[in-house]
Amino acid sequence: MTVGMGSHQSSAMKNDEWLTPPEIIEALGTFYLDPCSPGERRPWDTAAVHYDFRDNGLSQPWGGRVWLNPPYGREAAQWLERLAAHGNGIALIFARTETDMFFRHVWEKADAILFLRGRLHFHYVTGERAKANSGAPSCLVAYGANNVRALKQSGLDGRLVTLRKAEAL
Ligand SMILES: C[S@@+](CC[C@H](N)C(=O)[O-])C[C@H]1O[C@@H](n2cnc3c(N)ncnc32)[C@H](O)[C@@H]1O
Repeated sequence: MTVGMGSHQSSAMKNDEWLTPPEIIEALGTFYLDPCSPGERRPWDTAAVHYDFRDNGLSQPWGGRVWLNPPYGREAAQWLERLAAHGNGIALIFARTETDMFFRHVWEKADAILFLRGRLHFHYVTGERAKANSGAPSCLVAYGANNVRALKQSGLDGRLVTLRKAEAL
């Protein structure tokens, strides 16, 4: 685990074990599935059903409302693609709005984006909150009308942008 004052989205980042601040998930309601969660040690539940790297969440069936904070790097795109195809869930990703991943799976397919104010402090698998912030802006991406509503009702500080499909809601 990379620990220190450097931002975790930097090139020094060594692994994916940066957990979502629990208050974010609490604000969004209950999820059925987290397809990429920590292995043996998990400080709290993020959903009713969890897959971890031993299951390879990408090769498993997905059902219900999905919470997705995917592994980082290039790998993230395939997780986001899967969520977009599934059509029911919320993803937490860096707001790198210019990337191919963002264009292909967010701008083109999502229903809404909540750009969060400020920067998040993620948590270690121990549950401890990282002292340093994540070093980049984050956003929550909704797929499905129920998840647009969840973003609207979350009370999370940020700016909600509804996308093409949500305009008719
Ligand atoms: C950024 S963390 C998010 C953890 C948790 N979902 C959350 O929101 O707090 C990404 C997680 O994906 C897990 N992971 C990595 N590869 C995976 C795979 N192939 N299948 C399932 N989980 C995986 C990592 O172990 C890590 O716990």
